[in-house]
Amino acid sequence: MKRLSIATLLLSILIFNGAAPGKKEPLYRNPAAPTEKRVEDLLSRMTLKEKVYQTWQSYVGLNSNPNNAGVILDTIPLEIGSLIYLEPGPELRNSIQEKVMKESRLGIPVLFAYDAIHGYRTIYQIPLGQACSWNTDLAEKVSRVSAMESRMSGVDLVFSPMIDVARDGRWGRISEGYGECPYVNSRFCIAAIRGYQGDDLADHSHVAACMKHYVGYGMSEAGRDYTPSDISDQSLWETYLPPYEAGVKAGAAAVMSGFNTLNGIPTSANKGNIEDILKSRWGFDGFVVSDWCSIKQLVNQGIAETEKEAVRIAMNSGVDMDMGDNLNMEYLEELIKEGSVQEKRLDEAVRRILRIKFRLGLFENPYIDVTAPDKRYLLPESVAAAGQMADESMVLLKNDGGLLPLDRSKIRRLALVGPLCKDNVNLLGNWSAFGTAPDVTTIYKAVSDEFGEDVEIIYARGCGLDGNDESGFQEAYEAALKADAVVCCLGEDRMWSGENASRSTIALPEIQSRFLDRIASSGRPVILVLSNGRPLALSGMADNAAAIIEMWQPGIAGGKPVAGILSGRVNPSGRLSVTFPYSTGQIPIYYCRKNSARRGTQGLYQDITSEPMYSFGHGLSFSVFEYGDIHLSDSVITADMKIRAEVTVTNISDTDGKEAVLWYVTDPFCSIARPVKELKFFEKKMIRAGESETFVFEIDPLVDLGYVDRNGNKFIETGDYHISAGGRNATVKAVKRL
Ligand code: NOJ
Repeated sequence: MKRLSIATLLLSILIFNGAAPGKKEPLYRNPAAPTEKRVEDLLSRMTLKEKVYQTWQSYVGLNSNPNNAGVILDTIPLEIGSLIYLEPGPELRNSIQEKVMKESRLGIPVLFAYDAIHGYRTIYQIPLGQACSWNTDLAEKVSRVSAMESRMSGVDLVFSPMIDVARDGRWGRISEGYGECPYVNSRFCIAAIRGYQGDDLADHSHVAACMKHYVGYGMSEAGRDYTPSDISDQSLWETYLPPYEAGVKAGAAAVMSGFNTLNGIPTSANKGNIEDILKSRWGFDGFVVSDWCSIKQLVNQGIAETEKEAVRIAMNSGVDMDMGDNLNMEYLEELIKEGSVQEKRLDEAVRRILRIKFRLGLFENPYIDVTAPDKRYLLPESVAAAGQMADESMVLLKNDGGLLPLDRSKIRRLALVGPLCKDNVNLLGNWSAFGTAPDVTTIYKAVSDEFGEDVEIIYARGCGLDGNDESGFQEAYEAALKADAVVCCLGEDRMWSGENASRSTIALPEIQSRFLDRIASSGRPVILVLSNGRPLALSGMADNAAAIIEMWQPGIAGGKPVAGILSGRVNPSGRLSVTFPYSTGQIPIYYCRKNSARRGTQGLYQDITSEPMYSFGHGLSFSVFEYGDIHLSDSVITADMKIRAEVTVTNISDTDGKEAVLWYVTDPFCSIARPVKELKFFEKKMIRAGESETFVFEIDPLVDLGYVDRNGNKFIETGDYHISAGGRNATVKAVKRL
C-alpha cells in the first residue's frame, strides 16, 4: 500500500486524474451510470486489502476532544475509507484527497467526517433545548446552516443527529439528544436529516447524516457513561427504536453503533439489531460505523477475548466501518483468509460505504472549493437562524404575578448577578465544534443593549459555578439592594454535559443555591436565568425566584433572547422536552410512564411528592391561550379509517404569541399495559392577539392509536381511545366493523 505524507501533500500540485488517451474509462467512473452498477463495478475491481481499507476510519488534524484524544497522523494509506477531519477548512482535505485520487490504484475518494452536533462554526442551541422549541422547521433550518458550513470546510458526513431517548439527567449526553419522548426524537431526527442532507447529497451545501448511537445508549445504568443498558424488547420497540426507524425512512446515510452493552450484548456486536432490524426489516441501505473504539471495547465488555476476535464479531454483526481503533486494517484480511468472516460480508460492508460516497458525488467532485471563512461562517442568515432557534427554545418555567416582561416604568436599576452573566464560553454548550467564545453575546451585553440608557445595570459575579468561595456574596447582595429587580444567572459549566460527563445529582452545586438564598434575602424580585445541559432539580431554589427562564445552552445567540424576554421583545414559546423532577431521587421520571398497580395514595414516595416539579410540555407565555373543544371527524372508526381531530385555540390576550399544541393519545385498556399518555403529534403556530387558529391532528389509527408489541409488530384493538390537547379531551371508539 502506498502511504502519503501530509507534509508533502500540502505542497503537492493538483493534476487531472484522467484515463490514458484511448483507454476506456471503467464504468464506476461514469457519472451517468446508475449508482448500484457503479458500486458493483468498483467492488469487482478491488483487491481484498483495498476492500478492508475502505472499512477503516481514522482521523487527521488536531483534536481537542479529550474522549478521543487525537494526534496528527503523518502517514495515511491512500486506500483508507474515511477520516475524521479535525481541521477547520478544506485545504488539508483537498490535498489529502488529491493525493488519493491521483496516486491510488482505483482513485476511491476518502469520506471526511466530523462531529458537528449543534453547528460547525455558527453554534446554535443544544439539541435538548432545540426540542423545547417544538419547531421542526427551525431545527431543519439550523441543521442546513451546519451542513453548509461543514461541507464548505471539507466535511462530507456529520455524526449527528443523536436520537437516544434519555430520561436520566445524570447522563451528560442527555444534552445531545431531543429529550425523553420517542415521538419528539423522531420528528426532530427527520428535521435534522432533511436539513443536513437536503434532496441531493452531492450538492456542496449538504452533508450526509449519521444517526447515533444505535441503540439504547440513553438508558446507560445510573446515568454513568459507557455503562450497560437493560431494556426490555417491549420498551425497545416502544421507546428506543422508533426515532431510528423514522430516520431510516427519512433517508439517513449512516448509523453509528453504540458503546453500551444492551441486554447483555454490546451494541457494536448486536447482529439482531443491526442486521435483522436496521438493515433487513427497515431496509437501511447506508453504512454502520462503530463508535470510537467500540470494537476494541468488546474485549473490555467481556465479549471478545482478543482484539482480532472483536473484529470478527463486529463485522459479522453488521458493523461496516471501524472508527478510531485501527483494528479492521490489522485483522480483517487474516480473518477472511481463515474463513471466520466471509468475503461476501466484507463486500456488503464496502458496498454500503461506496454507495454513500457515490451519492455524495465524491468521485466526480472530490474537492471542496476553497472560500474565505467569511463566505461560509456566521453569514447573516445563519446567525439569524441561530437567534430564532434560541428565541423559541427558551422556556419560561415560572412567572409569578406576571413579573415578566418587566414593567419598564418601574425599573430604573437592574442588578445582574451570578457566574454566568458575563460568560461567553459555557453558553456555547458541549460539542461546540469550531464555535468561539467571542461569537457569543453574553447576557450582560445583551441586557445592557436591550435596556440602553434607560436602565442602570449593576453587575456582580457573586460566586463561581461550584466551589465554596462566598467572598463575592456581599457585593452581589448590595447590588441587589440597590436595584428594582435582580437577574440571577446560574447553571452549569458546559463540560458538565456531553460524553463522559455524568453527575450523581442534577441539582446545581450548593454554592449556587446558597448564593440565590442570599440574593433573595434582599427582598427584591428575583428572575432566575438558568443555562444548563440537563434537566435540573430546582427544589430549594425555585421558591427564591418569582420568575425562572430556562435558556439551555443557546450557542452564539447567548443572552439576546433572555434580554428579549425581560423586556417583552421576545414572547417565550418554549415547552420542556424533558421532565424536571424535584429531586434526583425521582429519576426515572417522565410523562409517558405506565400506570402503577395501585392508584390513589399508594406506591408514592413518603418523603417528597411523586410528581415532577415541571412536567414535560410545561412552558409559560406572555399570551393567554384558550382551547376550544376537540372535534373529531368521526367518533366511531375501524382500523383503516383515517380521521381528523381539530381544536381551535384563541389568543385572548393582547400579546401576539406562538403556541405549540401537543396532541396526546391514551388507551385505557389494552392487552398490554400502555403509557398513561403518549404524544402523537405537535404543531406550533403564531396566534395574533385576539385571533384564533385551528390545529389539526390527522389520525392514522394503526400508527397513532395502536401499539407495538415486543416483536415490533403493530396492532390496534377495539375500544375507546382518548385524544387530548391543552387540557381538552375527546373519545373515539374503534370497532371491528361499522
Ligand atoms: C465518541 C462519541 O460517542 C460519538 O458520539 C462521536 O461521534 C465519536 N466519538 C466521534 O468523535
